[in-house]
Amino acid sequence: MIQPMNSPLRFDVLSLFPRTVDSFVGESILGKASDRGLIEVSSHDLRDWAKGKHREADDRPFGGGAGMVLKPEPLFDAVEELSRPQSTVIYMAPDGDPFTTQMAKELSTSQHLVLISGHYEGIDQRVRDELVDREVSIGDYVLTNGSLAAAVMIDAVSRHLPGVLGDDESLLDESFEDDLLGCPQYTRPAEFRGIKVPEVLLSGNHEDIARWRHEQRVQKTRSLRPDLSTNTQTIRN
Ligand code: ADE
Repeated sequence: MIQPMNSPLRFDVLSLFPRTVDSFVGESILGKASDRGLIEVSSHDLRDWAKGKHREADDRPFGGGAGMVLKPEPLFDAVEELSRPQSTVIYMAPDGDPFTTQMAKELSTSQHLVLISGHYEGIDQRVRDELVDREVSIGDYVLTNGSLAAAVMIDAVSRHLPGVLGDDESLLDESFEDDLLGCPQYTRPAEFRGIKVPEVLLSGNHEDIARWRHEQRVQKTRSLRPDLSTNTQTIRN
């Protein structure tokens, strides 16, 4: 029997700078994933839902202060037009929940993500209160263009979809899998400027290589990110 194809994970991005996302997702692995129908990414200019002669999607904050705030009307209209019952609406915000590998994996099982990218001082709080399911930060810093945060999320989520990475194995030993950092990697030549590749990697002994890699991951995590893992207690035999 022919298996039905999984429907692609769809992302709709709402922003004032939609080309940031378009140029990013058209390239490399994400570009291929779109061509192969594994993901579908549409970025939208919020001004398309803005009313009035100047189609302004932002305005000055009530109470005064610097910067501009994204207005509620275009965001409500856009999200209501794009959402379906199974959609998750995410606001990319520096004060959101920290984005992690775990969250990326979880979101990769979604059917449809609507990503709102803020700019300037953010978005009207009523959007956050009424429309948004999750608020997510990609790190403790503030970007001028929240579309970059949306692009980061699309990238990190998509690579967990089956078939997006050419070789599914490449997820296995990388950083943050098992709460450990990745191991050092080497390629040819085996000796460069007198610096040799660790002997074990040339041995062809897969068990020894796996053990060495695991030890390297444990040691690296212990010294660089002891906060990450309890797995650094155990070195596999
Ligand atoms: N928009 C601006 N800064 C951001 C951040 N750190 N994470 C997510 N969205 C943002």
